[in-house]
Amino acid sequence: MAAEKNPDGVRSLTIGEVARRSGVPISTLHFYESKGLIASTRNAGNQRRFPSLVLRSIAIIKVAQRTGIPLEEIKRAMGRYPPNSKLTAAQWGEMSSAWRDNLNERIRTLEALRDSLDNCIGCGCLSLNDCPLRNPSDTLAQEGPGPRILERASQRI
Ligand code: FES
Repeated sequence: MAAEKNPDGVRSLTIGEVARRSGVPISTLHFYESKGLIASTRNAGNQRRFPSLVLRSIAIIKVAQRTGIPLEEIKRAMGRYPPNSKLTAAQWGEMSSAWRDNLNERIRTLEALRDSLDNCIGCGCLSLNDCPLRNPSDTLAQEGPGPRILERASQRI
């Protein structure tokens, strides 16, 4: 089958080609599209067609996901640029810098968790007075949702 081109003359890919070349399952591509992370057009036969630049977007999504960046953050970052556009080095630099800050914050939180667990490993006391993980009667819920002890610890760093 001859390669299709979109109205701009750019080669377009079927969803199967995108899956094969990106290593991402078709179901995941559908999910990314439903979340607005990638976009397709429809050909005359109402089949999805993606510009070849979608492979670059998918690579960015995969790298970001591997570092634990939430999909909503990935979408927000990619949404600053036109869909299916080729990011410039400066744009990629902006995006990766923001993710670096996010990654550093999560590293600080994990270090705080590790430090809290250092006292607990092999202990098992769950002491109301001494254990940093103990939360009697869920009193910390009054401070708000989430892991309050760990968030407190990461704010000290
Ligand atoms: S279990 Fe003993 S200090 Fe946490």
